[in-house]
Amino acid sequence: MTAAAALQVLTAKAPFVPELVIVLGSGLGSLAVGPEAQAGLAIPFTDLPGFPAPTVEGHGGRLVFCEFEGRKVLLQAGRFHFYEGHPMSLVVAPMRLYGRLGVKSILLTNAAGALNPAFGVGELMALTDHINFFGANPLVGPNVGPGPRFPDMTAIYDPAFRALLHSCAQDLGQTLREGVYLGLTGPSYETPAEIRAFRVMGADAVGMSTVPEAIVARQEGLKVAGISCLCNMAAGILPQALTHQEVLEAGAAAAGRFEALVRAFVRGLPA
Ligand code: HPA
Repeated sequence: MTAAAALQVLTAKAPFVPELVIVLGSGLGSLAVGPEAQAGLAIPFTDLPGFPAPTVEGHGGRLVFCEFEGRKVLLQAGRFHFYEGHPMSLVVAPMRLYGRLGVKSILLTNAAGALNPAFGVGELMALTDHINFFGANPLVGPNVGPGPRFPDMTAIYDPAFRALLHSCAQDLGQTLREGVYLGLTGPSYETPAEIRAFRVMGADAVGMSTVPEAIVARQEGLKVAGISCLCNMAAGILPQALTHQEVLEAGAAAAGRFEALVRAFVRGLPA
């Protein structure tokens, strides 16, 4: 879906091939309205044939090409979630575009609930791996990629990128957790029983995005890094209900640290 026409528009408008794409997750959109973004070139998703406007509050809906920490970066503000009713092909369509545009690296960020009781609300977690609990794989169907039919996912989150994230966090004096992200459709939050089951399965955080994008980005040959902002403790870990509002608030409270980490990561990227 969408690929050819949207790629044509994007290629015509793109001022450069980004060295890095950063997908800004829920509540983490501050970078998309910062000075670099304002000086950059913004392309609303709706300018790309086949791309609708994102529906969820707290998500932008555009791509911003900008100079960022001395590098050529594309900021993706907002994403297409499976829970919005979009087909998987649209959820991952931006990744297809980036692959065809010649992008080599991507940083996927998200808001997630923490399962690991050692983790705290407001902390950041580098993804080491994921569990696909969407009940669907975005590669089902004809193989549209130049990439393999059965792509390897052994090191889906690039080990060198993870090491860079950790050294950046250390330089900044930040705590950076690392762990396994379990992705599922939502939009209901999980039950406490599901969260207990996911802990047994080895998940450290749970969220409603990232996994399909990471799979397709990998198949497109991109190197992938992932950071979760742990915006709440997952259901049943604390004796309280979950609200989207608390997730947004914790995301906003962590935005400064998140931004500092991302900036350091971009500065530290190999040339
Ligand atoms: N579960 C699923 N998705 C989420 C959560 C959660 O607890 N927090 C933020 N996104």
